[in-house]
Amino acid sequence: GKVVLAYSGGLDTSVCIRYLQTLHKLDVITVTVDCGQEDDFKEIEKKAKAIGAIKHIYIDAREEFAHDYVVPSIKANGLYQGKYPLATALARPLIAAKVVEVANREGVTAIAHGCTGKGNDQIRFDVTMRALNPKLKIIAPIRDMNLTRDVEMKFAKEQNIPISAEAKKYSIDLNLWGRAVEGGNIEDADFEPPEEAFQYINFQNDKAGYVEIEFEKGVPVAADGKRMPLIDLIQYVNDKAGAHGVGIVDHIEDRVVGIKSREVYEAPAAVTIIEAHKDLEKMVLTKHELAFKRMVDDQWSWLAYSGLWQDPLRNDLDKFIDATQVRVSGKVKLKMQKGSLRVVGRESKYSLYKNDLATYAAGSTFDQSLAKGFVELWGLQSIIANSVAADATTS
Ligand code: ARG
Ligand code: SIN
Repeated sequence: GKVVLAYSGGLDTSVCIRYLQTLHKLDVITVTVDCGQEDDFKEIEKKAKAIGAIKHIYIDAREEFAHDYVVPSIKANGLYQGKYPLATALARPLIAAKVVEVANREGVTAIAHGCTGKGNDQIRFDVTMRALNPKLKIIAPIRDMNLTRDVEMKFAKEQNIPISAEAKKYSIDLNLWGRAVEGGNIEDADFEPPEEAFQYINFQNDKAGYVEIEFEKGVPVAADGKRMPLIDLIQYVNDKAGAHGVGIVDHIEDRVVGIKSREVYEAPAAVTIIEAHKDLEKMVLTKHELAFKRMVDDQWSWLAYSGLWQDPLRNDLDKFIDATQVRVSGKVKLKMQKGSLRVVGRESKYSLYKNDLATYAAGSTFDQSLAKGFVELWGLQSIIANSVAADATTS
């Protein structure tokens, strides 16, 4: 029989090719889905075939990833636990969908991935794959055999499977929306990630810089006054924010399986664009919309993080979120320096900020005399509760 394997070219998925052949006696078709990881895809194909894949398929999914996964996440201010821009989490359901497409086309009965049983990726792959074609058997060799990286490295050496220098130090997952760095010395939660763990960040540059991002209906369409396709815009902001040290996320994260893990990310564009998008929403949405949307955004991020991309609730939330984005058009200017990021200006034709109401200078149209009665009613219960509490402690 034949199996279709989601193949990245990394250690886990490379040893999977060999395990699927020798243990499961299956012919392996490898699929590499390009979500902007900037790998040498010719080399990956060569490697897959050298290890023993009978066929390799490359799928350029960058446009789809940007428009159908990253855009909804920007609109939802997608940050898991307020910090992680979900780069890996967003790519997994897309990769899974492509693998299922290939499996259907090739008429195979099994599909495979290289996830461990300790992480979130297995959930994202399994749930999406089963939602899209429940008939396919899923094989996850690393999880099935409870393998650790040391054992995989040893197996790779024995089997003449090449290991990259980077894989020896860290496990990297990269796409258009960000980079996750795992393993090695940064598994010590109290150890500062060394500069070599990062790819976009300039640690030497002390100068301040600015970037202006323009949104239309919640979607970034221009940077520094130049309209560009979304993929180019993300790369442009990645380079520029990274050059000023912006975009490192280092936090303790709750994985779905209950493990707390120390996660290190590098996502200059995601961090900057979401910061700008949130700021613009504050200018154009009412306080009622903002309060409700914060809950929706959190729930959306949780669904994306926890592998429930296929749940109908995500579509339901997207409909609400899209409705709120109709007025999220305008420009946000951010200042960056040595890793700090600060919004310093914003404008929108749908702004609810009215200078004649807010100003303390002459020309204010706000009638202060109206405030006196409002304040009295606003604090009514709190004031009564305080006097009742005072009576309670003295009696
Ligand atoms: N903790 C992050 C997440 O759950 C990063 C996972 C990185 N994945 C990987 N295969 N290296 O999305
Ligand atoms: C894995 O354990 O397979 C990668 C990390 C993750 O899924 O969170």
